Amino acid sequence: MTELSIVNVTKRFDETDVLKGVSLDIADGEFVSLVGPSGCGKSTLLRIIAGLEAQTSGDIRIAGQSVVDRRAADRNLSMVFQSYALYPHLSVADNIAVPLKMRRLSRLQRLPLAARLLPSGRAASRKIEYDVHQAAKMLEIEHLLNRKPGQLSGGQRQRVALGRALVREPAAFLLDEPLSNLDAKLRVQTRAEIAQLHRRLRATFVYVTHDQVEAMTMSDRIAVMMGGRILQCATPETIYEDPDHIDVAEFIGAHKINILPVEIADDGQLHLLDRRLELSVVGVGRGVGSLGLRPEALRLAGENAPIRGHVVHRENLGAELFVQVEVAALKERVTLRANPEQRRALQLGSPVGLEFDPAKALLFDPHGKRLRQLRPSFAAKTEVA
Ligand SMILES: Nc1ncnc2c1ncn2[C@@H]1O[C@H](COP(=O)(O)OP(=O)(O)O)[C@@H](O)[C@H]1O
Ligand SMILES: [Mg+2]
Repeated sequence: MTELSIVNVTKRFDETDVLKGVSLDIADGEFVSLVGPSGCGKSTLLRIIAGLEAQTSGDIRIAGQSVVDRRAADRNLSMVFQSYALYPHLSVADNIAVPLKMRRLSRLQRLPLAARLLPSGRAASRKIEYDVHQAAKMLEIEHLLNRKPGQLSGGQRQRVALGRALVREPAAFLLDEPLSNLDAKLRVQTRAEIAQLHRRLRATFVYVTHDQVEAMTMSDRIAVMMGGRILQCATPETIYEDPDHIDVAEFIGAHKINILPVEIADDGQLHLLDRRLELSVVGVGRGVGSLGLRPEALRLAGENAPIRGHVVHRENLGAELFVQVEVAALKERVTLRANPEQRRALQLGSPVGLEFDPAKALLFDPHGKRLRQLRPSFAAKTEVA
């Protein structure tokens, strides 16, 4: 059991609270991403888990045991960095072998000549060679073992860094933006490979990224971090469909969620752009809020639609068509995901009406907190008055 617990961790640099009380339990074998904008404290949290940075307060536990008094080397965690951190003068095989040599060989056995002459050193070296080969095989870099890092592509270097993490058989892998230095195509490919590696190893992965697509595609659960706090930790589906906070809703999603201002009447009835919606909210007094509608929650509708404007931009992606609609009373354009077959109705400048699926509407209070008690409110009678 190698469950990892982060218990109310805070970190203060000079006068700044960078982590403001972060708690997270990660199950054995789970792939959890820490995702959030640059500067929100992801790397700091990962370095504290690894033991490379001291927390100001709080606890880190592995399998129920506090490890805050252990040095990084004694926590049995493998960290993979964006920069790869390979030794340029060592071959790929020797780079991968470094942690094994440090752990398994005595100072004497590590001397090049002694390793060959001492029988105990020979046996240990052969075992290391075997383990390095196994790791290289798993990552499909066996043919590169004799090269130097300088002779490798970025993707290959990243695999060597993964190999070096792998041979240690750590309690958990900690990865800090490992794909950031790769080009877009390689990033997509390596993303799939890391997810596959995780499935094969069934090891615990904590994966830091600012890229919500990476987090969405690889993780069992995503922890969305902002300003030194975890706003929500849940499966990718829940984070996308059922966010707790407007900041989570806005951060996740390849096309940004539409946020529209709504008014809430005494009885909870919602109004959008002075139009009564067929939606009300329970248990909230009169006030204002924000309605979150993802591009796929909107659809084309007739002249009576609650949202009306005209097309100002189109992105045809082949299988889907994203259309930006300018609405007179709104500061921001509204993005609709349409079917490419609808493109005739969606020429630049075309007037359009939009309605939305009430089941997909997300309501937030003025502080961004999600209001979940949305109910359909049927129009006919009150509309007459
Ligand atoms: N050693 C340090 N000294 C002072 N401030 C730091 C240090 N390391 C990080 N910070 C600050 O802490 C904040 C979070 O940094 P970091 O954890 O690297 O964010 P992220 O990885 O999410 O981009 C940033 O504002 C950064 O400037
Ligand atoms: Mg970082």
